[in-house]
Amino acid sequence: MNFKKEIAKRRTFGIISHPDAGKTTLTEKLLLFGGAIQEAGAVKNNKIRKSATSDFMEIERQRGISVATSVLAFLYRDKKINILDTPGHKDFAEDTFRTLTAVDSVIVVIDVAKGVEEQTEKLVEVCRMRKIPMIVFINKLDREGKDAFDLLDEVEQKLGLSVTPLSFPIGMGYDFQGIYNIYEKNINLFSGDSKKNIEETIAFDDLSNPELEKIIGNKAAATLRENLELISGVYPDFSKEAYLEGNQQPVFFGSALNNFGVRELLDCFIEIAPPPRDKKAEERVVKADEKQMTGFVFKIHANMDPKHRDRLAFVKVVSGTFERNKPYLHVRQGKNLKFSSPNAFFAEKKEVVDISFPGDIVGLHDTGNFKIGDTLTEGEVIHYKGIPSFSPEHFRYINNADPMKAKQLNKGIDQLMDEGVAQLFTLELNGRKVIGTVGALQYEVIQYRLEHEYGAKCTYENFPVHKACWVEPEDPKSEEFAEFKRVKQKFLAKDKRGQLVFLADSAFSLQMTQQKYPRVKLHFTSEFD
Ligand code: G4P
Repeated sequence: MNFKKEIAKRRTFGIISHPDAGKTTLTEKLLLFGGAIQEAGAVKNNKIRKSATSDFMEIERQRGISVATSVLAFLYRDKKINILDTPGHKDFAEDTFRTLTAVDSVIVVIDVAKGVEEQTEKLVEVCRMRKIPMIVFINKLDREGKDAFDLLDEVEQKLGLSVTPLSFPIGMGYDFQGIYNIYEKNINLFSGDSKKNIEETIAFDDLSNPELEKIIGNKAAATLRENLELISGVYPDFSKEAYLEGNQQPVFFGSALNNFGVRELLDCFIEIAPPPRDKKAEERVVKADEKQMTGFVFKIHANMDPKHRDRLAFVKVVSGTFERNKPYLHVRQGKNLKFSSPNAFFAEKKEVVDISFPGDIVGLHDTGNFKIGDTLTEGEVIHYKGIPSFSPEHFRYINNADPMKAKQLNKGIDQLMDEGVAQLFTLELNGRKVIGTVGALQYEVIQYRLEHEYGAKCTYENFPVHKACWVEPEDPKSEEFAEFKRVKQKFLAKDKRGQLVFLADSAFSLQMTQQKYPRVKLHFTSEFD
């Protein structure tokens, strides 16, 4: 085994999109290319459907199924590709944010008719902040949609990206003829016969060749030449370095459903997308090819078997090799742990694995040792950065509805928060607990799980909060901070890590507070330098 070669083989990435843009369909087609699945439809089951928003039992069931598909790995050419599933459902956006801490690159799927949508904006912003390399895939070209140039403008403006098209459509919707692949300099003709795997590819180095007219017709040929001229005039040439630094985003066009343009995307992806990247820890930067294993937990999945309270912690290996039965230091707890059956993921299956490499995801059975963000090492004290909390959208008091079960309730709340289901805030004034979530749906999930897994009952009470802000005083001993704490006492709480949080009840009060206490910084995420 050649350690460095194994690292160079890995491509770990996530696909992000607004629901319905075609993420699931694209994932499935990529797996088909990799031979990891034999038929379409295999990944679909994993999807949390819109119709299920009022039926959390169904969502839980689907989350159960999605364990196996949380990581979809397959081989393509000589590369090992790990796709990390990112739930599209907006109530699970926090899950997606966390998963983005474990990817080395991202593919953004955009619907040609709808353009840039809300969820895409949020997710891309997180990737942009982290300088994660992104490729954009504009999907559903078989349908009538926005003009390609308008879309490129929209992507630049709304997402703040610097794009350069690597393919360009010839017609669209009814007139859709195919794609000119700028990267490979060839034309792919769309047969319209959907779900066909084989496309007709015609090499086309020289666009002035009159053959072009014969293939796509006079009008389309003239338009294509014009468009390509415009592209080379307006957009910068593709630069792999700029892409890897997060400063340029190549764009592909296609139709995932028709398996069109997907191979081009995949072929370019494996060529340009980064292998496992070095990662910043609080202490230092850790290089992927260091011999000592380090990794961090980015996701915890519970409730696979309702009879056991077991959980699966997903660890991204950052450096070194993760080996079965070898003791690793659980940095937060300061104790050594061994794992006799670490899981690796392949296509839709998971299996026990002896050794995993940087870029790989290992699933560890856990009985409550892990929290999101925990680090495992071979002894060194390393804390990985980059798993911030964002302000939740909803806030409610949680009350104990069965005084005999206070202990169970507290334990349940603790463990569910460790999993990252929601955020807990404890009020400074009276110690009451407030649960903050991204979607209202989580309250039902929490209530249900507390009852079925911990035997505890809870009720909720509204707690109107506009935004949670993490507090950072310039000088903790200042008069100003003391006054802030005194005046705002009612609105102050501690989060799970003990950080001070200001729960502003309106946009107005937030603004006033910022003006009145300029030396008390209010941050919208829990992580700031
Ligand atoms: P998501 O995971 O991003 O939420 O999207 P998903 O892949 O489920 O796709 C959403 C819908 O868009 C699906 O239709 C899917 O078949 C369709 N779709 C995906 N790619 C294309 C494409 O290239 N062209 C066209 N015309 N449609 C596409 P649905 O009716 O909601 O689902 P289904 O019941 O047909 O599976």
